Amino acid sequence: MNKRAFLKHSALAGMGSVLGMDSFAAAFQRVKNIEADLLARDDKFWQGIRNQYLLKPDYINLENGYYNFIPQPLLEKYIEHIRHINFHGSWYMRNYSVLDKASVVEKLAPVVGCAPSELAITRNTTESLDIVIAGKHWTSGDEIIMAEQEYGTIIAAIRHVADRYGVQHKMISVPNLPASDEEIVDLYRKAITPKTKLILISHIINITGQILPIRKVCDMAHQFGVEVLVDGAHAIGHFKFKMTDLNCDYYGSSLHKWLSAPLGSGMLYVSKEKMPGIWPLIIGGDKDPFKMQRITHMGTHPAYTTLTIADAIDYYQLIGPERKEARLRYLQQYWTSKVRKLPNILLNTPEDPARSCGIANVGIKGIPPRDLATRLMDEYKIFTVGIDGANVFGCRITPNIYTTTAELDVLIGALKKMSA
Ligand SMILES: Cc1ncc(COP(=O)(O)O)c(C=O)c1O
Repeated sequence: MNKRAFLKHSALAGMGSVLGMDSFAAAFQRVKNIEADLLARDDKFWQGIRNQYLLKPDYINLENGYYNFIPQPLLEKYIEHIRHINFHGSWYMRNYSVLDKASVVEKLAPVVGCAPSELAITRNTTESLDIVIAGKHWTSGDEIIMAEQEYGTIIAAIRHVADRYGVQHKMISVPNLPASDEEIVDLYRKAITPKTKLILISHIINITGQILPIRKVCDMAHQFGVEVLVDGAHAIGHFKFKMTDLNCDYYGSSLHKWLSAPLGSGMLYVSKEKMPGIWPLIIGGDKDPFKMQRITHMGTHPAYTTLTIADAIDYYQLIGPERKEARLRYLQQYWTSKVRKLPNILLNTPEDPARSCGIANVGIKGIPPRDLATRLMDEYKIFTVGIDGANVFGCRITPNIYTTTAELDVLIGALKKMSA
């Protein structure tokens, strides 16, 4: 098919028009010379973005970590794609769905900083990481290292291969407030034995928001011939980095979290040399060991979700990755700096800006985290999630770029009152 014919019916034909939001684009044009850190503090400017979200009046949403629901322009695009594919039906699926998906991968690759040939669209982090965990060839006695702060179902996946193949798993615990990168790297180094095959590590720990020194852990692990699988569920679209700079072997993420793609959007990176070592979880028949399609086949699926990832990338680029990261870090530091030193407050997230971004976790001595979450909701109309386990005692607080400092002031007031 020639390019013109392809674009005529491809749902991506209008891609690059930045969602047709000319005024939105103009607003960013006007601030293009303002430093990201400075713009991050300008609530008035971010009000423009807030206006694009349909927010429930019932509560202040500080639980955006689970699902970063999508702003209205992206929702419209999503619905447009559903209509388009529903109209063209099998014609679209036969002629365009594969090509469109490849275009989305091409578009995502520079955003995450890897080659398109090492990247695939999946439905979520769970699927991405399970493809690697369940797809590797395990031998009885192999060892896997992970931290107790990893996500529950991913720990369950490791336990599954442990039960099935006789793999040993070693659990370490990452300190909430480490003194240095070396402290973290040492933890993993000390757990390695000649039988260690894999380290599972979060890029950003979901319950505390701590960002881990992935590059250093990968460099250390590779010296021992150990592969590294990174759980980046909360990283893509949250803070800037390049996959190739991490030097990891495998990386999975959910794009319905910080990239604001629709539910059921994820990605998997596998370095070229590791691809042949993975058996597919869902069989599509592709036999080329160096093709991501061989290991990421998923059968017929909601193609419109994949298409909207391209729009979410447009939206992200328009805001600007640096500006988004700066805004999220500013919001976190705005509230944490006002409560960190208060008596009875347990701030479970590092203060160092390099070790955290938008997510943080706070507890109050003597108040079980679930009770704290309930009281925040009942007494202050603040929606959070309580976490009590894996050495973390507190509520995860996850603003999004639309969150205002006035909303965070309500949280600060609540924490001050409850901890006093
Ligand atoms: C660290 C981490 N890993 C994996 C997941 C699973 O993500 P999903 O349900 O999108 O697959 C989550 C979800 O919050 C998470 O926080």
